[in-house]
Amino acid sequence: MIAGNRSINYLRISVTDRCNFRCRYCVPSTPFTVIAHEKIARYEEILRITRLACELGITKVRITGGEPFVRKGIFPFLENLCALEGLKDVSITTNGALLNRDKIQALIQMGIRRLNFSLDTLDPVKFERITGRDRFHQVWDSIVTAHSLGIFPIKINAVALRGFNDDEIETIAGLTLKYPFHIRFIEYMPMGDSDVEKKQQILTREIQEKIESALGPLTPMEKEDNDGPAKKFKLAKAKGVVGFITPISSHFCSECNRLRLTSRGTLRPCLLNNYEQDILNPLRNGASDRELQAIIESALTHKPLFHHLTDPKSKDIPISHMTSIGG
Ligand code: 5AD
Ligand code: SF4
Repeated sequence: MIAGNRSINYLRISVTDRCNFRCRYCVPSTPFTVIAHEKIARYEEILRITRLACELGITKVRITGGEPFVRKGIFPFLENLCALEGLKDVSITTNGALLNRDKIQALIQMGIRRLNFSLDTLDPVKFERITGRDRFHQVWDSIVTAHSLGIFPIKINAVALRGFNDDEIETIAGLTLKYPFHIRFIEYMPMGDSDVEKKQQILTREIQEKIESALGPLTPMEKEDNDGPAKKFKLAKAKGVVGFITPISSHFCSECNRLRLTSRGTLRPCLLNNYEQDILNPLRNGASDRELQAIIESALTHKPLFHHLTDPKSKDIPISHMTSIGG
C-alpha cells in the first residue's frame, strides 16, 4: 500500500482503551469513561481486518492499548495473530506491570521477540507519582526478565518532563552502558485535558545536551528497518542505544509508514490528526473482504504529509487521549 511517496507496511493495533496505570501525560486529569465493551472490536474482528491488511502489504504489527495485557484472552489472540500469513513481525507496547517470566516465555514461543516498555523514572516514589500506581519493581523485573529470556531489542520509552524526571535523564540514558536496551526519550505531546503542563515539555536538543554533558558524546547511528520515528545514537562503549522521538521539534510524518486500528474499530492514518475511518461497523453489517480492503485503502489516502501540533491555532490538535488511539 502506498500513501504519498510512502510505502505502508506497518499496522498498529490498539486492543483496548483500558489501562491499569494512570500516567498523568496520557490519561485525562478529569473523570473519564471507558468505551463500552460492545463497541470494542472483538478479537476475531481484529484478526479479519489484520488478515485483509496483510494481503494489501502489511508485514508488521504492533499491539498497543491502553495496556494490552489488561484485555481478557489476549494470549490466544496473540497466538492467532502470529499465525497469520504474510505477517513477519509482531511486537507489543506494554507498561510491563502484568508480565512475568511465564507470560514472557509464552510470547517468545509464539515468535514475539520485540517488546517496548514505558518507563519514565527509576525512582519508585516518582514512578507512583506519574503512573498513579506503586508498581516500579514489577515493571523493572519484567524488563530484566525479558532481557534474560532473550527478548531483543527491548525498547524503553521515557517521556521527558521538566520538574519530574529532568534530573534523571542521564541516569536513564546511562542504562545503555550496562544493558543493550534502546532507551527512547519522547517529547511530551499536549493531549487536550492532561494535567501535565505544556511548560514541562523538554525538547530533544536539551535532553541530548544533558546526556552529553554528563556521559560524553552521542554518536549518530544508521537508520534501520524497525526504528520507527526514533533518531538513534550511541554513547562510547555502550551496549544499548539512546533514541529520540521528536514529534514536536522535528516532523517525521514524511517517513511515517504506519496505519493505526483503534480499539473502537476505526482506522486512523495519523496519530496527530483526528481523521478516522470506521471499519468495524461495515464489517458487522456484512461487508465483503473486498469492500473492507477498499476501506483500508481509502483511509490511507487521508494520511497527511505533516501535522499541526506546533501551531496553536490549528483545529487539528488531537483531542483523543493516547489510551483511545493506542500511542
Ligand atoms: N506525549 C508523549 N508520549 C506519550 N505517551 C503517552 N502519552 C504521551 C504524550 N502525551 C507514550 C507513553 C508510551 C507510548 C506508547 O506513548 O509513554 O510509552
Ligand atoms: Fe497506560 Fe501507557 Fe497511558 Fe501509562 S502511558 S496510562 S501505561 S497507556
